[in-house]
Amino acid sequence: MSEVVRVRHGSNTGQPLTRREGRLKVTGAARFAADAHPEGLLHAVVATSTAARGRVARLDVAAAEAHPGVVAVMTPQNAPALARHPDEKREPFTFRLDLLQDDRVRYPGQPIAVVIAETLEAATEGAALLAPAYEAEPARVGLDAAAPFVPEAIGVGDPAAVSRGDVAAGLAQAAERIEATYETPAQYHNAMEPHAVVAAWDGDALTLDTPSQGMAIAQGRLAGLFGIAPDQIHIRSPFLGGGFGSKGLISGPQVLGAMAARLVGRPVKLVLRREQMYGPVGHRAPTRQTLRLGADSDGRLTALDHHTLTASSTFDDFFEPAGGVSHTLYAAPALSTTHEAVRLDTGTPLFMRAPGEASGSAALESAIDELALACGLDPLEFRLRNYADTEPLTGRPFSSKALRACYAQGAERFGWRDRPLEPRRMRDADGLLVGWGVGTATFPALMFQAEARAVLRRDGGGAVEIGAHDMGQGAWTALAQIATDALGLDLDAVEFRMGDSRLPNAGIAGGSAHTATAGAAIHAAGSDVLAKLAALATGDERSPLYGAGNAGVVARGGRLLRRDDESRGEAFTDILARADLDSIEGRGTGAGDPGLRDSYAMHAHGAVFAEVKVDPDLGQIRCTRLVGAFAAGRIINPRLVRSQYYGGMIWGVSFALHEQAVTDPRSGRIMNANLAEYHVPVNADVPSLDAILVEEEDPHVNALGIKGVGEIGVTGTAGAIANAVWHATGVRVRQFPITLDRLL
Ligand code: MOS
Repeated sequence: MSEVVRVRHGSNTGQPLTRREGRLKVTGAARFAADAHPEGLLHAVVATSTAARGRVARLDVAAAEAHPGVVAVMTPQNAPALARHPDEKREPFTFRLDLLQDDRVRYPGQPIAVVIAETLEAATEGAALLAPAYEAEPARVGLDAAAPFVPEAIGVGDPAAVSRGDVAAGLAQAAERIEATYETPAQYHNAMEPHAVVAAWDGDALTLDTPSQGMAIAQGRLAGLFGIAPDQIHIRSPFLGGGFGSKGLISGPQVLGAMAARLVGRPVKLVLRREQMYGPVGHRAPTRQTLRLGADSDGRLTALDHHTLTASSTFDDFFEPAGGVSHTLYAAPALSTTHEAVRLDTGTPLFMRAPGEASGSAALESAIDELALACGLDPLEFRLRNYADTEPLTGRPFSSKALRACYAQGAERFGWRDRPLEPRRMRDADGLLVGWGVGTATFPALMFQAEARAVLRRDGGGAVEIGAHDMGQGAWTALAQIATDALGLDLDAVEFRMGDSRLPNAGIAGGSAHTATAGAAIHAAGSDVLAKLAALATGDERSPLYGAGNAGVVARGGRLLRRDDESRGEAFTDILARADLDSIEGRGTGAGDPGLRDSYAMHAHGAVFAEVKVDPDLGQIRCTRLVGAFAAGRIINPRLVRSQYYGGMIWGVSFALHEQAVTDPRSGRIMNANLAEYHVPVNADVPSLDAILVEEEDPHVNALGIKGVGEIGVTGTAGAIANAVWHATGVRVRQFPITLDRLL
């Protein structure tokens, strides 16, 4: 299509609407996966390994089967045959799943059996009666438990080592140098809603109610495992109680639910207990990052070397890409990032809340602060002196970058100019030490692939359909805002449908790219249907738009208007009526433009300013104030975006001061696999939050200029808090989370 109808935007996008599904959620009317109760439903409970490695030598299946209400016990002996071994990798984004194919144990918490019963209680008791015995070998725990190696790729395909310029020479010529090693712990997602599935088979057709951040990818994976076509699998996933990356790909336990339903020939519900989410559904791997930085006598970087040691499982290969942030943030003429890994007896780590950037920026932002101190410079001034006007690793221009404005607006709002350079100089009225720190936030502006369908109806309404996902971030609202503007209609006139795999494929809600990608598809579908409508009118002598050509037409408020004279036009409904059509349909795809993506570096940026108070006697640390200023392209809904930034910053508090999985070095088991002992911030831990939405226009990133806001708040914040703790106390803690025992 050469000529494009212009839509007059701005009526819905940009408005601070409240969540359209909010009432459903607060009244309990929103149905989450585990709320499904199909006729004949049975309950399944996973039994998990307490051993870290070896094999299951014995399971008392007879005892479990004899328990009243138990219908079946699924073990490697009777698990339904799969069409493809779950260790086989054919498609991208395929990770190995433990689906009862043999008696091996690869990590503690691995599913070793599933008990299916008439009630949850009977299934739970049945699972306890299995009393497994193991032939077990000692667990490999911690980053020193195995020999490091250089993985082929990190994340889902980036090279493990990249560099530009001569780092050794840059360090040699530096006037000031620092070398510091930072450690970050294993972290687990802890979404409010555990992984859950209600699975029902009808012949070879499978219906799943299950939370998903990527229904089409899940369909593809399930189709391969069960030997059926993807369109025989229907996934309903209208609401998620959080995902954080753990629901980006279908997990082993969710597949076990479908296998259990096949085994017993009845619908089955399987919901993980909270402690069962510490193993088979991904986590953030621990890292040990060594940064070597040099600066000249003006405080300008001469070299940046960022080495990461991280961990994966013994059987798969996701490696936390912590070095990536160092490619983009500071104008080092020489830089190098390298990754090494060890294999441990753990479930495979996977995407979690800014995978790579969260851990990497915690270390980098601490190191930058340490070098600023060595240079005798204010840490914000040091960052400005090393501001990257082009992407340091590649030399590419940024598609847009309003980071200077973020620094300036954030510093102003926070009151940064009053900050003493030296540590331990500020106290509050109660005698607590007060410290201020800054961190830079960044996250790539990614684009995946999505499709959408748009319909205009003769009755004046419209519909937009896309298989998009809402983990709680607000897709139901933000995408509907884009949809109504894409059609040139009012919000109430458009039916917006998402959260179901029968709708067009919206790709994955991850990488902070969902609004951009799904939004671009919706926008394209709207443009397509409007172009078809305009063609009907501009080619028809009876229309006031006759002869205008599509490019000469704009859409607004349910009408097509002549661009050269907006008083002349007609209603969508009149055009459809004259053409004797009940409705007209358009389709569109959203994806990044590969040419532009090669030419420009695309990232969102931000600056986070943190205040902490530390008890000088007890070492107790509180984050009391956070101001984040973020530039992420076009903002679709400022209320929801601010909420995303708050959420991200709270996870940054969590990273800095709270979260860590503690592993028993003897058993390899996680000792705090629950919300009581695995600390995440509660209300009392959350500081005063302020998020500034810094204006930024990006003409290159995608049709709508959206960069994404989901994960960036996590980056920058942890480093800012670590730097504030140093400023309060003069003690540099290089181990996250920063707890009082590490401070004293
Ligand atoms: Mo996110 S870790 O890309 O769901």
